[in-house]
Amino acid sequence: MRTIIVYHSHSGRTRVLAERVRDASGGDLAEVRPQTPYGLISVYSRGARRAGNGEVDATEPAVIDVSAYDRVVIGTPVWAGRPTPAINGAVAALQGTRGKSAVLFATCAYSPGETLPVLRAALAARGVDVVGEFSFTRKELGDAAKLATLVGAVRGGEPEQGSSAPVAEPSSALDHGPAAG
Ligand SMILES: Cc1cc2nc3c(=O)[nH]c(=O)nc-3n(C[C@H](O)[C@H](O)[C@H](O)COP(=O)(O)O)c2cc1C
Repeated sequence: MRTIIVYHSHSGRTRVLAERVRDASGGDLAEVRPQTPYGLISVYSRGARRAGNGEVDATEPAVIDVSAYDRVVIGTPVWAGRPTPAINGAVAALQGTRGKSAVLFATCAYSPGETLPVLRAALAARGVDVVGEFSFTRKELGDAAKLATLVGAVRGGEPEQGSSAPVAEPSSALDHGPAAG
């Protein structure tokens, strides 16, 4: 099964998890960034407000063609209980989606809120069938069994390519979450 892992990561946690999934599933990684980056303060003011309102950021890349893949994996941080504006932009940027299946994952400080249902509905509107949804709190990022469950859903029954070691905390990650500490 050909897999693409599309993700946004502001402070590094979702990126580490996406890389672990790629290492185990053998898929391609596609990192999405907002064309107008968020800073230390604007992520909480502009970013959280835009996420809460379901707004869509223009992204780099502006087009993500998934027609060559069977399985689309989407990874997002949780902002204000929602997907980030950049991952909303990534969903809008997808091309060749009809008939594809997807697995979703979200990383959060303590609760994913409405992130996964909102993302599922956005993908359904693009003709994508969501077959698995996972959220990881900070504590759960080190949970090897939970990671293995996500990897199993991404592989859809195909044999694993590598080990699924626990996710290490990214060294550059900044503790941005509201429940930090
Ligand atoms: C603007 C902003 C809003 C956030 N809102 C939530 C939230 O509503 N619930 C939660 O559990 N974590 C929240 N967090 C924490 C992030 O979801 C969490 O740290 C996530 O793993 C970060 O992923 P990243 O390192 O890939 O950017 C928020 C973080 C930021 C920056």
